Amino acid sequence: SCTMGVLADVAGPLGDFTAHASLPALVVAGTASFVVLAVVLNVLKQLLFKNPNEPPLVFHWFPVLGSTITYGMDPYKFFFSNRAKRQHGDVFTFILLGRKMTVCLDTKGNNFILNGKIKDVNAEEIYNPLSGPVFGKDVVYDCPNSKLMEQKKFVKFGLTQESLRSYVTLITAEVEDFLKRHKDFKGQKGAFNVPKVMAELTIYTASRSLQGEEVRNMFDSRFAALYTDLDMGFSPINFMLPWAPLPHNRKRDVARETMIKVYGDIVRKRRSGAVKKESPDMIWHLMDCKYKDGTQVPDHEIAGIMIALLMAGQHSSSSTIAWILLRLATKPEIIEELLAEQKAILGEDLPSLTYDDLQRLPLHAQVVKETLRLHAPIHSIMRKVKQPLVIDGTNYTVPTSHTLMSSPGVSAQMDEHFPNPAVWDPHRWDAGANNFEGAEDEEKIDYGWGVVSKGTNSPYLPFGAGRHRCIGEQFAYLQLQTILVAFVREFKLKNPGGSRDIVGTDYSSLFSKPLTPGIVEWERRGKEL
Ligand code: HEM
Repeated sequence: SCTMGVLADVAGPLGDFTAHASLPALVVAGTASFVVLAVVLNVLKQLLFKNPNEPPLVFHWFPVLGSTITYGMDPYKFFFSNRAKRQHGDVFTFILLGRKMTVCLDTKGNNFILNGKIKDVNAEEIYNPLSGPVFGKDVVYDCPNSKLMEQKKFVKFGLTQESLRSYVTLITAEVEDFLKRHKDFKGQKGAFNVPKVMAELTIYTASRSLQGEEVRNMFDSRFAALYTDLDMGFSPINFMLPWAPLPHNRKRDVARETMIKVYGDIVRKRRSGAVKKESPDMIWHLMDCKYKDGTQVPDHEIAGIMIALLMAGQHSSSSTIAWILLRLATKPEIIEELLAEQKAILGEDLPSLTYDDLQRLPLHAQVVKETLRLHAPIHSIMRKVKQPLVIDGTNYTVPTSHTLMSSPGVSAQMDEHFPNPAVWDPHRWDAGANNFEGAEDEEKIDYGWGVVSKGTNSPYLPFGAGRHRCIGEQFAYLQLQTILVAFVREFKLKNPGGSRDIVGTDYSSLFSKPLTPGIVEWERRGKEL
């Protein structure tokens, strides 16, 4: 009874308290004090336990959340403001959803991460939780790196002169047809939501060329829905929960299995001889490829590689062509320069575009190049640290618990490398202008899929560097320039009210893109051209 008495004494005040405050209020109070405590401990830890042998940690109030919000809203603003803090410089660590991310910026940082040795840095451990359920088994990051290198070789060698030549014709036809049919381009003038409309056009042009006729024909109907469901696999929440049994992940898994079956059916039909090869595409090419050990590429791997190409190409190219048109609308005079270039080089009558013509239109290439300088679709590249890494020229060692983050878009926007970096000016790349340093980068290397420049000193690496460098660059340029040529011939573009402003960037996904709506006005060129 004595014990009961003590308990009653203790419970007494509590009982009184609960009589006045509701249970939710108690929970709120409890949570609040827990959060306050966590914040205090987190701040104290940062102030008291600085490890001089590790890169400085970006100050943050909340554990786990760390700098997730400031980084996620605008990674470039976050990178630039932190490198400006002298103690951080080009190497610092920040907390992203509970993970320690060590950022290494500028040319040295790009080189350190992108040209890192395979025993030091690893991509598949970081990317596969996200990409594996989208691409499927045994391709890209769901296999050892040596296998990825072979798969990249297959794709790179599949982009032959013959296929690239045919792609220019197919893409041109696709764009002309699109501009005739699309509801936003009826009449003599109008306006369109650039990012949305360009996403549609890119998927048609990429699928008609690289993916082949069967896939293109399915895109008007069921393939588009499958693509959308599969794409949900890259939604931001999947950085944390790629495996969670959420509706969008279930849809993703169904879409992947259906797509693998669709590609499998295409391959089997072609192998049976029921479909004749009329023009080259990547599926035909992969059907003929063999791994070094002599084995054919299995059907589910052909499917996985094709899905990966569709995803990689779609996000990067549709955002880039959208930025190109949005930028041109801020400087309509460049559109007239482009038309003048086409007339001067191809002829006043503007004959049908060919692959060889593309190399003869330098200003068109420069428009693409300059747009990628400011709007590289991949803002952050990540690698897992495999063994403690010493960063050259510092006292820092990056432990294996950290993830490395590279952002070549930072060096591309630094005034040390590009005068007036914020200005979009295709003419900064004019021959002889020579107004950025580090362009000449002679060091070459072959990872098994062709010789590429190492990019060791270049501040301009929108396609990455090292063993994971992009193999789609040539195809991307071809596609972007071909669409650009067609638009310049067909339309004058400008912003509503002649404004020189441009929409902001949506960084919420792995690939950045223009915020929508981004409305641009078009006016069809008359016959006088
Ligand atoms: C890799 C950019 C278009 C296929 C990469 C990487 C970058 C990049 C930065 C390196 C990623 C890393 O190191 O983690 C771009 C840009 C594009 C573009 C800016 C267009 C403007 C394409 C297209 C395709 C493609 C059209 C397919 C036809 C690939 C593949 C990889 C890659 C297969 C290799 C991934 C690896 O080895 O880990 N791209 N890309 N890309 N890209 Fe692209």
